[in-house]
Amino acid sequence: RAAASARRDLAGFRVVVTAGGTREPLDPVRFLGNRSSGKQGVAIAEAALARGAEVTLIAANLEIGEPAGCDIRRVSTALELQQAVTDAANGADVVVMAAAVADYRPADVSESKLKKDAGDVGMTLELVRNPDILAGLGHAPHDGTLLVGFAAETEPDDDRLLELGRAKREAKGADLLVVNRVGWNEGFARDENAVVVIGHDGVVVTRAHGTKMSVAEVILDVVVSESTTAAA
Ligand code: CTP
Ligand code: CA
Repeated sequence: RAAASARRDLAGFRVVVTAGGTREPLDPVRFLGNRSSGKQGVAIAEAALARGAEVTLIAANLEIGEPAGCDIRRVSTALELQQAVTDAANGADVVVMAAAVADYRPADVSESKLKKDAGDVGMTLELVRNPDILAGLGHAPHDGTLLVGFAAETEPDDDRLLELGRAKREAKGADLLVVNRVGWNEGFARDENAVVVIGHDGVVVTRAHGTKMSVAEVILDVVVSESTTAAA
């Protein structure tokens, strides 16, 4: 979308994007992770850069190359991501939480590689909750910062999917929530995506489907129009 990228409608904006998926270590060689590749978040960072924004990309275990021209902060765990995004969000115009953040982490991280016990037929892992980073940002004062969350849902029914998205946006205090359906063959690591963007009062602001780059451009169109409305 050369035409969209030629617009410098994000000039003067400081945009923070989290992308990828967190990894929660169990021991020096193992982690609990997820299937997020980072493609959608990186596409948003690239598109924002092309539209003139100053972009900080908080990169959690990306499976694709890092875009040139962004200030990149590499993180791995949810707690590291929280620290990085909380620092970067200060004074930002837009924060986009596209990263898939682990909801739980192992209660203990072993300093040495965990060993099997001879007689074991299984093991139980104890997990503890990670902080909800987006809700933390959403419930703290964030005047002048547009907060954009994502939601990954496996719900097959469209109306139910919307209801889940509406409840999630509300619960997290995000200004916009980008809902996408994920599944064994949907969402992750693909070049295409289909999303619904939910705004205040649960309104469907827009729907977009196509390449992750074209979806990124549509999300940024909404960011620009919401920022203009807020400034007016
Ligand atoms: N998120 C976050 N911190 C977490 C978990 C999620 O900031 N500990 C953010 C994600 O980056 C995303 C949004 O919250 O922008 C929604 O993530 P999602 O996993 O869809 O929602 P959850 O609130 O974790 O609910 P659940 O997984 O139970 O559906
Ligand atoms: Ca989650």
